Amino acid sequence: MSGHGPAQPMTARKAGPLTGTALVPGDKSISHRSLILGALSVGETRVRGLLEGDDVLATAEAMRAFGASVVRNEDGEWVIHGVGTGGFGEPEDVIDCGNAGTGVRLIMGAMATTPIAATFTGDASLRSRPMARITDPLALFGAAAHGRAKGRLPLTMIGAANPVPVRYTLPVPSAQVKSTVLLAGLNAPGQTVVIEPEATRDHTERMLRGFGAEVTVEDTDEGRIITLTGQPELKPQSIDVPRDPSSAAFPVCAALIVEGSDVLVPNIGLNPTRAGLFETLRDMGADLTFENTREESGEPVADLRARYSPEMQGIEVPPERAASMIDEYPILSVVASQASGTTMMRGVKELRVKESDRIDAMAVGLRANGVTVEEGEDWWSVEGHGPGSAPCGARVEARLDHRIAMSFLCLGMASEAGVTVDDAGPIATSFPVFRDLMEGLGGSFRLENA
Ligand code: S3P
Repeated sequence: MSGHGPAQPMTARKAGPLTGTALVPGDKSISHRSLILGALSVGETRVRGLLEGDDVLATAEAMRAFGASVVRNEDGEWVIHGVGTGGFGEPEDVIDCGNAGTGVRLIMGAMATTPIAATFTGDASLRSRPMARITDPLALFGAAAHGRAKGRLPLTMIGAANPVPVRYTLPVPSAQVKSTVLLAGLNAPGQTVVIEPEATRDHTERMLRGFGAEVTVEDTDEGRIITLTGQPELKPQSIDVPRDPSSAAFPVCAALIVEGSDVLVPNIGLNPTRAGLFETLRDMGADLTFENTREESGEPVADLRARYSPEMQGIEVPPERAASMIDEYPILSVVASQASGTTMMRGVKELRVKESDRIDAMAVGLRANGVTVEEGEDWWSVEGHGPGSAPCGARVEARLDHRIAMSFLCLGMASEAGVTVDDAGPIATSFPVFRDLMEGLGGSFRLENA
């Protein structure tokens, strides 16, 4: 798990237009949370539409290691028998979360207020990512973490025997940190409070409520104040995971930049804390429409229709939108390279601590393909000169980052010379059917020799 086998270099180049319907997989954020909350409930949770990507499969394995039963039925439904709040047992071996920052951080939160020890590791990307952002608040509950320098993995977490509730203001806009604290708060007595100055994705709050926990959210001048009452008995749920807007971003953006395309991406969750990219694309002049807009399980959902949009303009992306599209900046930068004018992206320092430093990874790869990119610590800009203006033809490094690999393959799909990524393997973490789906729409990919 902590590596994914030999590198799979892959090239995408211009083929026909992209047409048809793209059924993207289940939402990664909701899939991780379904497994973890299912494992913390007493009784049987059933999950349909779970993302069966490597990241989520690692979380399923971890839940088994902590004592839950997690089984996939032949019809694709997942059934979890949980152990209840505070019921996690001590794993017998190291927990390997692969590439998954969300998985490892949420699981550490979920076990940090139970008196057991667990050691966590992951692949080279995950082992390089900062963990102090979660071990600091978990220490306030009474948990102790022993990791490498700066709290990097491998790391051993010793859960608090007598946890106390915590009031914590997020120092970075991160749904992972918020969720880690809330999950730890589940097994602390009294009320755990998280204050987020900038709103981030709110799946944990919504799902905790769905599982029967008492969670209140107040919008104040300080930001959103989220209060969880500890030690609830979580009730098992039946969950239909919506399709992932962050995965939908790839067929949508590819359709906008590949000549003649017209693609329908049905059933996409448009929770406002996740939908910033689609707003931004429309601000750029993309021919992107929301059809059949409806509510499902309390979430706004629509079918997205994207058509080739040769007239898109570069814009200044509002920085306050950053949290709602944080995973979509790499693919936005590819669209920006095919628009006219400069697209300026500010307030995006968090991009530097994702599966890779995404500003640097995209800047280096775009420049190699003839695109002008400027960057500072928390901003970057991409210059576009219209469709097909970037010469392309270069080989780029994906840096063990699924979204970097998919973004450059989308750029390749819009160019005669194509683009090669050094390793398409990490795409399996979030979008295992990416190649089949894109080829089904008319894309053309080729595996190269390593
Ligand atoms: C996620 C939160 C985001 C996002 C990640 C999924 C989540 O990370 O980048 O892909 O499910 O909570 P941060 O919390 O680090 O911003």
